[in-house]
Amino acid sequence: MPKISIKGLAMPESPIRKLVPYAEAATKKGRTIYQLNIGQPDIKTPAKALAAVKTNNIEVLSYSHSAGFESYRKKLAAYYKKNDIEISSNDLIITTGGSEALLFAMGTIADADDEIIIPEPFYANYNGFATSSGVTVVPVQSNIEDGFALPPISEFEKLITPKTKAILICNPGNPTGYLYTREEISQLAEIVKKHDLFLVADEVYREFAYDGATHYSIMSVPGLEEHAIMIDSVSKRYSMCGARIGCIASKNKEVMKTAMKFAQARLSPPTFAQIASEAALDTPQEYFDEVIEEYTSRRNTLVKGLEEIDGVIVAKPKGAFYCIAQLPIEDAEDFAKWLLESFHLNNETVMVAPAAGFYSTPGTGLNQVRIAYVLKEEDLKRAVEILKAALKEYRA
Ligand SMILES: Cc1ncc(COP(=O)(O)O)c(C=O)c1O
Repeated sequence: MPKISIKGLAMPESPIRKLVPYAEAATKKGRTIYQLNIGQPDIKTPAKALAAVKTNNIEVLSYSHSAGFESYRKKLAAYYKKNDIEISSNDLIITTGGSEALLFAMGTIADADDEIIIPEPFYANYNGFATSSGVTVVPVQSNIEDGFALPPISEFEKLITPKTKAILICNPGNPTGYLYTREEISQLAEIVKKHDLFLVADEVYREFAYDGATHYSIMSVPGLEEHAIMIDSVSKRYSMCGARIGCIASKNKEVMKTAMKFAQARLSPPTFAQIASEAALDTPQEYFDEVIEEYTSRRNTLVKGLEEIDGVIVAKPKGAFYCIAQLPIEDAEDFAKWLLESFHLNNETVMVAPAAGFYSTPGTGLNQVRIAYVLKEEDLKRAVEILKAALKEYRA
């Protein structure tokens, strides 16, 4: 048989999806599974976005401009302005999800074997995008003890080599739920300027900031124009994961010119989904107010429930809709499989994502899981009850 590429063999499996066969087997046995493992929100997509696709009378579903519809980009620039991000429609390219924007960013700034420093734990697919791009991920460790705050800048400096091209952050963080402060963003801005690096920020959870905190974008930092590259998406903001629309934005003209070549090579982002995403920009503030209220109470219920379980440590998330919980066990992957294969409480069980897949330093995060609070509150309460009973039985 012809050989598979080394790159293909090195592509990591998604830690979120690798338990799926166990879940399928549990479902076949008739078990109900509370899925705490994936970030698929149950919130309704804004009606306006769906209506824009249903009611339009397109006769030829053509390509769009490679950078996306101009009308959408203009409206998007206005949305950013409202969020203290001063960019024009020419400073952004519409992509097929934040995922493609991340690939464009890596392709634009890094060559094979170049390094990108990322605080870990981080969104696991960064590993996949890095492997696709031939880029080496260099992790800098953040810790559950301080809620996954930004590691000291001295730790970043120790890792910078001639191959370092960028620091990549996720703000608010998946899987940590950490929301970087203005001071932390300013510290990162200083270090990338000092070492002439790019600062890439994945801000797909921008709206999801709790307890009155506001998100501070790298695009709002004065003097960072040549260094800052923002990744964004409609997936979580409007609960439109299936639309597959995101964007890459930067004031750095060379970055955008180069990203545009990647955009041209794939011709255009999806047309129908751009129509939906453009219409979604008319979503009233009340939608977000309600969503934030809902997630805040889900988070409070989840964190309280987890904290009440003996031996569980949880970093209270300040944003996004995930948290990392440290469990009083040694091997969270084994536990997650056992939950699906061997445990049930009245024929119900839970599915969690083992957190080791969100770290790139081998041997870290082994006793942690990532929990997404994308279920209704009563379901979250029940899921925590099941988890509590399961831990008791697993440790017995
Ligand atoms: C941190 C983060 N970045 C990027 C993405 C990719 O999102 P999409 O490609 O759906 O825009 C996700 C999806 O879960 C995510 O959690």
